[in-house]
Amino acid sequence: MGDDCFAGFSSGDFPPGVSLRTGKVRDLVDLGDELLITVTDRISAFDRVLALIPSKGEILSRVSLWWFDATKDVCPNHTAAILSARTTVVRKAKIIPIEVVVRGYLAGSAWRDYSAGRAVSGLRLAPGMRQNQILGTPLITPCTKEASGHDEPISEADIVGRGIASADLWGQVREKALALFRRGTQVAASRGLILVDTKYEFGLLPGGGLVLADELHTPDSSRYWYSAGYEESFRAGLQPRQLDKEHFRGWLIDRGFMGDGQPPPIPDSLRQEVSLRYIEAYKAIIGKNFTKKALPFEAERKIVQRYIYRNK
Ligand SMILES: Nc1ncnc2c1ncn2[C@@H]1O[C@H](COP(=O)(O)OP(=O)(O)OP(=O)(O)O)[C@@H](O)[C@H]1O
Ligand SMILES: [Mg+2]
Repeated sequence: MGDDCFAGFSSGDFPPGVSLRTGKVRDLVDLGDELLITVTDRISAFDRVLALIPSKGEILSRVSLWWFDATKDVCPNHTAAILSARTTVVRKAKIIPIEVVVRGYLAGSAWRDYSAGRAVSGLRLAPGMRQNQILGTPLITPCTKEASGHDEPISEADIVGRGIASADLWGQVREKALALFRRGTQVAASRGLILVDTKYEFGLLPGGGLVLADELHTPDSSRYWYSAGYEESFRAGLQPRQLDKEHFRGWLIDRGFMGDGQPPPIPDSLRQEVSLRYIEAYKAIIGKNFTKKALPFEAERKIVQRYIYRNK
């Protein structure tokens, strides 16, 4: 491949009996009370894994950890220990099967629903709003987390009505999500960034405590715009300059791929371009240049294996 991307583990990498679960982006080893989460370099779009992007996994892991630290006074999170640049030990939680999407602006799928006259996760927004307009107060527009296929918008009333979360638990989730988004917005602003929208996952620990899980304010889970130029772009009806992986999606859409059928072959030049965008995102969010710390596959596997042997 010419670069040392991390594609992921396979079950043969660990002794029999070790349970390895493969998400689209993360590999998870289940150790009972704990999980090892290794962020691979896989990139997904339209719910399909399509390529490996140099340094992506490390950047996502480090950006998440940075944000977990920057929000730990707002909401407890699942982090237990850091094993390497891409592997974290987390407290295993029972994930509430809802993507808790919070939006500060009318963009992305919320704009597509609104402009087509549809409700946004059950919410009817005021008429006459424009694409990328700031919302008076941030909105929660949840989606279900489907085991397979596409996530569907769901209203907060239905989350409680269908028994996915009790009213009390959902009340805690919404309060934490809005508080995290407020902190995220403030910190992003200090970096010259707008946190446009993001997705949180919450879970319950065995003792019943609510924790923030998964990833936090990464370019994969969030849309960021550069503050500079936003007003001008908005007024001119142009897209604000943004940090996220829309470039990759846009490249696919330009070639007629939106998830169905055979994806186009991904050229190395695109993978390098997307990698540079992740590196740029790291720098913009954390405010420091990115220097690669990720280890080669064998060394990463050894670290993970050693932890498994000690803790199984
Ligand atoms: N602390 C935790 N306890 C249990 N599960 C967790 C925890 N943190 C994250 N997860 C789960 O780990 C998985 C992360 O893998 P990845 O992001 O690659 O999955 P995905 O392809 O996005 O799949 P999904 O649609 O299930 O999120 C997610 O299913 C997420 O819900
Ligand atoms: Mg995920």
